[in-house]
Amino acid sequence: MSGIVHKKVTEYIESFGGIQELQDLEFYAKENYVPIVMKDAARFLGFMIASNKPQTILELGTAIGYSALVMAMHGEGQITSVERDESMRDLALENIKKKGYEDRIQVVLDDCAGFLGKSDQVYDFIFMDAGKSHYREYLDLSLPRLSEDGMILCDNVLYKGLVAEEEVARKHRTNIVNLKDFIRYVHEREDLVVSLLSISDGMLLIRRKK
Ligand SMILES: C[S@@+](CC[C@H](N)C(=O)[O-])C[C@H]1O[C@@H](n2cnc3c(N)ncnc32)[C@H](O)[C@@H]1O
Repeated sequence: MSGIVHKKVTEYIESFGGIQELQDLEFYAKENYVPIVMKDAARFLGFMIASNKPQTILELGTAIGYSALVMAMHGEGQITSVERDESMRDLALENIKKKGYEDRIQVVLDDCAGFLGKSDQVYDFIFMDAGKSHYREYLDLSLPRLSEDGMILCDNVLYKGLVAEEEVARKHRTNIVNLKDFIRYVHEREDLVVSLLSISDGMLLIRRKK
């Protein structure tokens, strides 16, 4: 529970559950303290993929492959997911194989900024869910890789609501300061269309202005 909306509302939304076919991964993540997208974020992500039908998808931060599988199950595009932790990459590959999506999801063992810096691919949809304090850097590296009508979705941008506090909490200070800076930065850029959503732990949608 992120605590950014009323507890009762969050409980009500969560009562509808996550993604039925991936309940085993949701359970594993909970038991093993692996951070994966919240249930409402998973549904929103699936909805975005089903509506926009991106052909090429980039995910920053794979963990056990949960959100990559959500995207695969809701569309037909090819997914590249970047993860720097080898044991997570291995778990993700295992899960992807178990669910039968190994021909649609490729997991790259790399650092997100390093990968973006050398990639020459173009993506229709980019999902950012790693290195929260590096989102501004990832955005600058992602925009040249985004197709004309492409979209970027960033998770956890409200950081349990802490970015909305005037006084920055000492704990997680770097993440909060950098997320505040990132959110202000995207809103000030006149070439971008931006929507900051108070769903899940705060999600931010970005696309180029035409
Ligand atoms: C929140 S988890 C991703 C959860 C996943 N998107 C899901 O919902 O199923 C973030 C992951 O990003 C990875 N990560 C963090 N910083 C990274 C970086 N700079 N480059 C690549 N991976 C990174 C972590 O190892 C972690 O597994």
